[in-house]
Amino acid sequence: MATRAKKAAKSKTKARKATPQAAYRLAGELKAAVLPKKKKHSLITEAEFDPRKSLARLAGWPKQKFHISHLREKDFRNDGFRGYTLCRDLGFAKATGGMIQAHVNRRARPFDAKEVSKPHFHDTLFQMVYVLKGWVRSEFEGQGVLTMREGACWIQPPGIKHCVRGYSNDLEILEIILPAQYDTVNIAPRAKGKL
Ligand SMILES: [Fe+2]
Repeated sequence: MATRAKKAAKSKTKARKATPQAAYRLAGELKAAVLPKKKKHSLITEAEFDPRKSLARLAGWPKQKFHISHLREKDFRNDGFRGYTLCRDLGFAKATGGMIQAHVNRRARPFDAKEVSKPHFHDTLFQMVYVLKGWVRSEFEGQGVLTMREGACWIQPPGIKHCVRGYSNDLEILEIILPAQYDTVNIAPRAKGKL
C-alpha cells in the first residue's frame, strides 16, 4: 500500500514537472519560502549606508546605465510579430545589460478575434502591465475573463496562459518584462472561458 502511495506521489511529481507552467509554479513556491514576511524600507543616513550589502544584493545583475527615452511619435513601430501592435521600445534592454525590457504598446487596427485571440504564454521571469489609455479584455488561466481599464495594473506570473478577448482602438499599455529577451509560446486554440 505504502509502495503504491509512493509510486503515485512520484508520478504526480513527474507530471508536475512535465510542463513549463508547473516548473514556474514550483520555482515560485520555493522562492516564497525565503522572502521576508514584512516589507522593509528604511530611511537611513549616508553614514549608516553599507555598500557591501548593496553589492551583495546586486551580485549577478548586469551593470545598469542612466537612460531616458523621450516621447517621439515616430518610435511607435510594428513589433515584427503582431501586425495589430505598434510598439515604442523604451531602450531598457541596452541600459540594463539585457535584464529588463520596457515598452509602450498601442493598437494599429481595431480588434479582430481571428487575428488577436490566440492563447499563449510568455517564457518570462516577470511581466507587469499598466493600462495608460483605453481598455483591454483578457482571459487568464485560473482567473477568467477580465476587463482592465485606464489605470489598471497587473502582474502576469511566468508561464500563465492568457488570451486577449477585446480592446478599445485607443488602447495604450506599458509593459515591464524580465528578462529583455523571452519567447512567446502559442498554445492550442480554446473557446472563450475555457483557458
Ligand atoms: Fe501575452
